[in-house]
Amino acid sequence: MRERNQLVTLVALDEVTKSVLLADDSRLEILRGVTLEVSAGDHVSIVGRSGSGKSTLLNILGMLDAPTTGTVAFEGRPVHKMRSGRLDRVRGDNVGFVFQQFNLLAGRTALDNVMMPLGHAKGRLFWKRRAIATDMLERVGLGHRIDQIADRLSGGEQQRVAIARALVRQPVLILADEPTGALDIDTGASIMALLDEVATETDAALVTITHDLHVAARARRHYRLDAGHLAPTDLSRAFEASTLALGTDA
Ligand SMILES: Nc1ncnc2c1ncn2[C@@H]1O[C@H](COP(=O)(O)OP(=O)(O)OP(=O)(O)O)[C@@H](O)[C@H]1O
Ligand SMILES: [Mg+2]
Repeated sequence: MRERNQLVTLVALDEVTKSVLLADDSRLEILRGVTLEVSAGDHVSIVGRSGSGKSTLLNILGMLDAPTTGTVAFEGRPVHKMRSGRLDRVRGDNVGFVFQQFNLLAGRTALDNVMMPLGHAKGRLFWKRRAIATDMLERVGLGHRIDQIADRLSGGEQQRVAIARALVRQPVLILADEPTGALDIDTGASIMALLDEVATETDAALVTITHDLHVAARARRHYRLDAGHLAPTDLSRAFEASTLALGTDA
């Protein structure tokens, strides 16, 4: 078991920008100088309007996408210096993604989807992959649907499969893009409790992107992304300004 400690910076973004060239030759600036450090045990939330760059930022944090300028370091090592095979290994061993669009393997069962990340693991994780994946599906409340083909599950069930898949290798960095977007309030709350619990149990960092202020408020550090600029935010103000706060006790 690797040593995990509160002060270890897992991923550090320094002055990261991301821009893309559009079909009409103009440049779209998606991220404009984002600096962020995420450490073991951190719980960070990021809110922001649609199109503000949240998913782009999450993909860069998870080393799935590279910045246009600026640097990303994972456990102190610059990501742009890693060869692609090594980068794939570092990502696979350390990062659990819950994608906004789930990205489940179509035509495969819930169990196949959750076992998939364990196919490249070593030792017990590999040999016990069926039991470990089954257990994780039970924890997200899908123990009775493990043999169901993923694309025949409801949106909320697919989201829970995606969450089970993200957690099954006990990643040190859990990145969740709208993890409750397809869930009713009660299921969403229990799934967020599970994400918090697994992250706390394993001293993993949890970064959650959400439109839901109650979900955001579960984190310890809160940020807002506004037109590509990331800044700490005071959620209590957002609650005051929001009708969501009415009649709730969160
Ligand atoms: N590869 C790309 N080519 C062109 N435009 C892109 C590309 N990637 C992202 N964008 C644009 O950049 C902006 C930010 O996208 P992103 O998906 O990060 O937003 P978001 O904050 O996650 O939005 P949402 O809340 O709707 O999921 C959007 O306007 C999107 O269309
Ligand atoms: Mg998005």
